[in-house]
Amino acid sequence: MAIAIGTFQILLEGKVALITGGASGIGESTVRLFSKHGAKVIIADIQDNLAHSICKDLGVASASFVHCDVTNETDVENAVNSAIGKYGKLDIMFNNAGVVGTLKPNILDNEKSEFEQVISTNLVGAFLGTKHAARVMIPNCRGSIITTASVSSTNGGVASHAYTSSKHGVVGLTRNTAVELGRYGIRVNCVSPYLVATPMTKDFFKLNDEGVSSAYSNLKGAVLEAEDVAQAALFLGSDDSKYVSGHNLLVDGGFTIVNPALSMFEQST
Ligand SMILES: NC(=O)c1ccc[n+]([C@@H]2O[C@H](COP(=O)([O-])OP(=O)(O)OC[C@H]3O[C@@H](n4cnc5c(N)ncnc54)[C@H](O)[C@@H]3O)[C@@H](O)[C@H]2O)c1
Repeated sequence: MAIAIGTFQILLEGKVALITGGASGIGESTVRLFSKHGAKVIIADIQDNLAHSICKDLGVASASFVHCDVTNETDVENAVNSAIGKYGKLDIMFNNAGVVGTLKPNILDNEKSEFEQVISTNLVGAFLGTKHAARVMIPNCRGSIITTASVSSTNGGVASHAYTSSKHGVVGLTRNTAVELGRYGIRVNCVSPYLVATPMTKDFFKLNDEGVSSAYSNLKGAVLEAEDVAQAALFLGSDDSKYVSGHNLLVDGGFTIVNPALSMFEQST
């Protein structure tokens, strides 16, 4: 239900959202935006101190925290159950927790354990979140499940083998579950950002806020920020997207549609 206050439209009044990886970066921005739009938000993360300070900031009536390692099914099950215990329902599940892993361009240098760690968080974590959200959404015949993918969900060569595999996998999971869960009125989508300056990328690329986004972007004159991705999640979580399901919403300024071959040709002539 959308409520207008002045020119501001509240899009999530009365909704309950569980956000994994909500203690930092894109997840934190989404927690704050969903809360501003009237949702009751539960942060599920492994960074307890950061999550507690966000809850304190937003107020206990608006946000709460449950410690949850998304690679652990019992933790994910408990996180979903805590939404039901506290509010009696779950409207929006945002599978956002993720890790970037180590970039080793040569596959011969890639260890199986490193590959599995990234897949376990980014893909298995999203699977567990989708499964347990579906468990409680099916009886209500409604709900929105969103997963953070990446431009690496469509393009090769911009991240590690494990990360690219995990994000391609997330799109497959989204499409398959959108087919299954559509009959219960549950929508399943993902959001795919280009580079955003968050603790993850700043650490990985050793770059500052501007350097992260502008270097290889297609769209000039704007810098992608975590809140832009949160806005995309807000759209997918709200009734504004009531007929959108199985979609991979790219928030990439056109990065993934560029074929660099043409500009390389132009530069060479
Ligand atoms: N920042 C970018 O440029 C970018 C681009 C595309 C996609 N993404 C994706 O966005 C999502 C959020 O990343 P971010 O950039 O905000 O990074 P971030 O490091 O700021 O936030 C990630 C959060 O996930 C949590 N997390 C990690 N492993 C977890 C686990 N096992 N269980 C529960 N929580 C866990 C972390 O504690 C952290 O709070 C990730 O899925 C990432 O792959 C990020």
